[in-house]
Amino acid sequence: MVETFGENIGNLINMSSKLEKYDRLYEQIKAYVGSTDDIWARLATMEAVLHHKMQAFFWTGVYALVEDELIVRSYQGPVACQKLRHHTGVCWAAMKSGETVIVPDVESFPGHIACNSLSKSEIVIPIRNREGHLFACLDVDSDRLNAFDREDEEGLKKVLSLLYD
Ligand code: SME
Repeated sequence: MVETFGENIGNLINMSSKLEKYDRLYEQIKAYVGSTDDIWARLATMEAVLHHKMQAFFWTGVYALVEDELIVRSYQGPVACQKLRHHTGVCWAAMKSGETVIVPDVESFPGHIACNSLSKSEIVIPIRNREGHLFACLDVDSDRLNAFDREDEEGLKKVLSLLYD
């Protein structure tokens, strides 16, 4: 599809405004998380700020790898699945690949686990400890289709870098 000049400018404005928003949220979260090194406290704070400041975020939370199971930890939004079916869905795909998974339409993702029927798109970012070992993932659902892109990955990874700053 050929975009018009105006659409291109609009996309550039949207992109810079999204990254600029993540930069602002990064600074806000940085100010909050300094009081403890506890990563679970830091993650909970990140989720609270991101969830309430990013309009497209419907569910924002973390699943932790516990004895080869993905178990929910802190989150914002409607009640979620406590434990994810083994090696099924978006979170497990991200944990197995070690890479971010962006899902424009969850109904098109094989094995997607619908904790809430209102979730339409999703991004999952694996989280590593200081030694580089995967131990959790940040999962964000939106009630809008195609809500996430590489700018969200960049912005969320920047926020997650505060886990160890
Ligand atoms: N959709 C995720 C499950 C977690 S809920 O979105 C909170 C998945 O397929 O792994």
